[in-house]
Amino acid sequence: MKLLKHLALAALLMAAPATMQAASKPGTFTTGDKTFLLNGKPFIVKAAEVHYPRIPRPYWEHRIQMCKALGMNTVCIYVFWNIHEQQEGQFDFTGNNDVAEFCRIAQKNGMYVIVRPGPYVCAEWEMGGLPWWLLKKKDIKLRERDPYFMERVKIFEEKVGEQLKPLTIQNGGPIIMIQVENEYGSYGEDKPYVSEIRDCLRGIYGKELSLFQCDWSSNFEKNGLDDLTWTMNFGTGANIDQQFRRLGELRPNAPKMCSEFWSGWFDKWGARHETRPAKDMVEGMDEMLSKGISFSLYMTHGGTSFGHWAGANSPGFAPDVTSYDYDAPINEYGHATPKFWELRKMMAKYNDGKKLPAVPKAPMPIITIPKFELKTFAELLLAPGKEDRGALKTFEEMDMGWGMMLYSTTLPDIPTQSVLTAEMHDFAQVFINGEYIGKVDRVKNEKSLTLPPVKKGQKLLILVEGMGRINFGRAIKDFKGIVGDVTISAEVDNNEVTWKPREWWQCATDDSYETAVNTLRLTANSNINKATEYTKRGYYRGYFNLKKVGDTFLNFETWGKGQVWVNGHAMGRIWSIGPQQTLYVPGCWLKKGKNEIIVLDVVGPKEAVVWGQDKPELNKLQLEKSNKHNNIGDKPDLNSATPVATGTFKAGNGWQTINFGKTAKGRYLAIECLSTQKNGDRAAIAELYLQGQDGKRLSREPWKTKYANSEEENGNHLGDKVFDLQESTYWQTEKGASAPHLLVIDLGSEQSVKALEYLPRAEQGAPGSVKNYKIYLY
Ligand code: GLA
Ligand code: CA
Repeated sequence: MKLLKHLALAALLMAAPATMQAASKPGTFTTGDKTFLLNGKPFIVKAAEVHYPRIPRPYWEHRIQMCKALGMNTVCIYVFWNIHEQQEGQFDFTGNNDVAEFCRIAQKNGMYVIVRPGPYVCAEWEMGGLPWWLLKKKDIKLRERDPYFMERVKIFEEKVGEQLKPLTIQNGGPIIMIQVENEYGSYGEDKPYVSEIRDCLRGIYGKELSLFQCDWSSNFEKNGLDDLTWTMNFGTGANIDQQFRRLGELRPNAPKMCSEFWSGWFDKWGARHETRPAKDMVEGMDEMLSKGISFSLYMTHGGTSFGHWAGANSPGFAPDVTSYDYDAPINEYGHATPKFWELRKMMAKYNDGKKLPAVPKAPMPIITIPKFELKTFAELLLAPGKEDRGALKTFEEMDMGWGMMLYSTTLPDIPTQSVLTAEMHDFAQVFINGEYIGKVDRVKNEKSLTLPPVKKGQKLLILVEGMGRINFGRAIKDFKGIVGDVTISAEVDNNEVTWKPREWWQCATDDSYETAVNTLRLTANSNINKATEYTKRGYYRGYFNLKKVGDTFLNFETWGKGQVWVNGHAMGRIWSIGPQQTLYVPGCWLKKGKNEIIVLDVVGPKEAVVWGQDKPELNKLQLEKSNKHNNIGDKPDLNSATPVATGTFKAGNGWQTINFGKTAKGRYLAIECLSTQKNGDRAAIAELYLQGQDGKRLSREPWKTKYANSEEENGNHLGDKVFDLQESTYWQTEKGASAPHLLVIDLGSEQSVKALEYLPRAEQGAPGSVKNYKIYLY
């Protein structure tokens, strides 16, 4: 008994050192006249957004110190529900999930902490941080007062509270503020829901702790609660006075804070690597500091969405890459970029005359690894999984969060070509009797595939790989696998015939390391050369030896699409289309001597080789064709068409509405930009909405860009950017392309439209804003 007690005590002491060191005197953080007050004194929050699951734990302290060396006084973190409660009711706050320890390390380094515990966080993270298992209740309403959703939210927030409540400033910890929900204005209007989240958090953390809401200047009033602090999110280059204008009118004495000042932007598969100029970022922050405006720089260090944690954007389906470098001042692997040095120089001016702390050395060197082959492989189609027979099921119905599913059925006799149609989330490959027929790629909005004539009894096999669940907009309820029916239709003897197979065999294989290892153990084959078109999809294993460990970037350019594990750590997704071609492998997860790598390739590699390089490759696209919409056959002939509106937009930032004065009908919206406000400017539009007959905005979910005479592809300024729900992204024509410019959007089906809402670029002076326009519906 005595011994037991002794052991327990020893364990307690071992677990506690950071806590003990960090605890300091209780303090306060409140709002005063036009400023925040820290222990009663005016305080400007200079926060660095960093995400603990995107940084290997051994590197946490280094990254926090890097932020401090930039002159930051606070770190701002989300709490990612789905990483802490991967299975309903089973919580994990250990290891890389030890969010309390992250806060204690921040405090130890003299940094305050702002916590954004969701429940929804967005963040280009799987399902915006919500756990996938919520979808097992098919009719659940997410981010609403659905009883089951709210019940789970409260349990989760209580658990986070157990970790973080002892760390609030009132309790001598570093946490000064907590965020309520996240940008609810771009999701909906629901004050009762947001109030319930507020009450839940207030109940947990006490009424002394400051709570705030973040939103956009264009929509924060929708859900703004009277007793919370309101902060604005906007990107580099934005017109800052304009961003705070409305807040200043409503609450002239409130402190101002940009709760997300976007240093860069995130990358999606199949589009260029995003960057934002250092100059704009530094000038914006300089301006804010000179005006006493607080900020959080999102991201200051983005890190990596390891494993399957990268999310996807919508409208459409635009999965995010593994790297969350974000073109942030501290790059994905924790090093200072040129942006860092410029920012540091500026920030030094605002450090009360004191020198900024030294920039810490990276914890590990960077190493290279010579090219090596992955010699063992196991066929994917032989991977074990959970099997089922009967009606089609989604991943969620099979009780699986992530991975892939094989669906198989027996075909009837179809003497002609036919078309297979289904919602397949997200990347489907179709085989008939073992022969590969083609793919259906949700990223490209594909939903169907032509099948060759088939004989009765032939086997149809569909392999569906899931990617990250959508994390933004109304589409976050993103089921994986085949959603709904599969239909096969053909014209037989001049009749349209449709089949809906009802009897399926299906097998769900998760994307865990254990499953990869198991498949290799059961079916491994060391003769890769024998792999055929059919069998090359699978798990590949290889080893590499290290004399010295360090960070490295493993190159996967010769591979197809899938996931990677190094020494059992899930490193992330790969996809040949790019732009990301290397994965960041932190040295802290490597070891001297033999290291193991497993690659799951659902498409199959050209060559099963890998090497480690000393720099990442984040901007190499390998697309089948360009993403531009300049196919001349798609250009409408508007010569004889009558515009529904002709006129002149006002100059400057902010939304403008053009009322047509009548209801117009059409499936296509064409907007012709005859001139821009500033001569010689390239035309640009940040967002467009159409209002239906009832004056409400039409859903943009089915929208697609049909045609654009000019699109600057390098900066990702394609036509789709006018309906991607992001006010900081925009369509822009290329340098030298001359007006008139034409953008045509397919609304998916005929719509009745009363008005158009237009948002120019958010930057000062609204560069590229349109002057004279003609609007058509046809
Ligand atoms: C919003 C969200 C963040 C993140 C950024 C884009 O501001 O609040 O979580 O998604 O957009 O990177
Ligand atoms: Ca946009």
